[in-house]
Amino acid sequence: MRIAVLGGDGFVGWPTALHLSNLGHDVHIVDNLSRRWIDTELGVQSLTPMDSIQERCRIWHQETGRRIHFHLLNLATEYERLKVWLAEERPDAVIHFAEQRAAPYSMKTDRHKVYTVNNNTNATHNLLAALVETGIDAHLVHLGTMGVYGYSSVGAPIPEGYLDVDIDTPTGKKSQQILYPTRPGSVYHMTKSLDQILFQFYAQNDGLRITDLHQGIVWGTHTDQTRRHEQLINRFDYDGDYGTVLNRFLIQAAIGYPLTVHGTGGQTRAFIHIQDSVRCIELALKDAPQAGERVRIFNQMTETHRVRDLAEMIAKLTGSDIANLPNPRKEAAENDLIVNNDQFIALGLQPITLAEGLLSEVVDVAKKYAHRIDRSRVPAVSAWTKDIAQRVEHDPEGKRLRSVS
Ligand SMILES: NC(=O)c1ccc[n+]([C@@H]2O[C@H](COP(=O)([O-])OP(=O)(O)OC[C@H]3O[C@@H](n4cnc5c(N)ncnc54)[C@H](O)[C@@H]3O)[C@@H](O)[C@H]2O)c1
Repeated sequence: MRIAVLGGDGFVGWPTALHLSNLGHDVHIVDNLSRRWIDTELGVQSLTPMDSIQERCRIWHQETGRRIHFHLLNLATEYERLKVWLAEERPDAVIHFAEQRAAPYSMKTDRHKVYTVNNNTNATHNLLAALVETGIDAHLVHLGTMGVYGYSSVGAPIPEGYLDVDIDTPTGKKSQQILYPTRPGSVYHMTKSLDQILFQFYAQNDGLRITDLHQGIVWGTHTDQTRRHEQLINRFDYDGDYGTVLNRFLIQAAIGYPLTVHGTGGQTRAFIHIQDSVRCIELALKDAPQAGERVRIFNQMTETHRVRDLAEMIAKLTGSDIANLPNPRKEAAENDLIVNNDQFIALGLQPITLAEGLLSEVVDVAKKYAHRIDRSRVPAVSAWTKDIAQRVEHDPEGKRLRSVS
């Protein structure tokens, strides 16, 4: 298949592009490299040294003889170029990772909120409109997030996209299936909730074939392909905005930084290893919906964990300390989370779990590149409201000079 990987320079997009190229697909990466620019804005860098995207593609060709093509294009602002590009390349499938994906970044300031909404909503809508206009019948696979559902304790498993409801009507009860209600907890999650509605409309109105993958928090860094050469290494974020919880604990453990637990650590989250993430995308591609079918929604996660349990497990494994800090987010102190993932299991996914020994691989990678870490960028300081900002902890290590008078 000819596959367009939008956002293919990113943390999940790059290993997905390699995985699909390795399977023999003709892979085209489209990316505006905004994520690299955000590194510069924040004054951080990937823990792992990342080459330019062109260099990465060159090394892949040298290693395997396969070509991955790169196209520099902004999906959110270059609609006409996107249309021309689609019409010329005519992909069989489009995988859409190209959004601003950090909740803390989306909550930093009003400018970051506006950027995240403009970028994500326009990127998704431009893509949908361009597919209709060019008449390209590509299977669109989008990376959404489990976070659209919020983290309140419902007590029942979160189904794969749709909820059966009974509605009281004047003539009695009627059963219906509705999109499972969203309750986004950040501007970023809000954009992913808006994406769902855009997909619902274009599937129903234009017969676009769409799969929306509601992904858990991705952990790990290597896949079978990124291990093949030092210069194929994946990006790996450790900072307070883009670093995600489990990877951050592992990195903190590797550099002797206290594991930063926010609030009671009673938040329960869904997780998936990066190797399973790329495998799920392969499985979803093989199982495309028909035109006229409703959006196919999968929960792309393999296990759930409470944050404080993860911290305790990693502290035990590595001898690290735990620092309980005020929570910069506005969220429930404690929540349960039960998630159905029957569809991927039925398609043959064999989940990699935290127990598989890959935790220490991440610690080893972090130790190898520890010299690239700026410790002052580790704390998560982006606050959800101005009130919360007053109590955010900027110095969990207690290193700042203090007055002695
Ligand atoms: N990483 C996770 O834990 C996680 C969890 C759940 C869902 N997801 C979803 O998976 C997708 C990929 O996540 P990631 O961790 O790889 O993110 P990432 O930030 O590493 O990669 C996103 C890529 O998209 C590109 N991009 C952004 N806006 C663009 C635009 N307007 N035009 C062209 N390119 C653009 C960026 O330059 C970047 O290379 C995201 O949509 C995210 O919401 C990620």
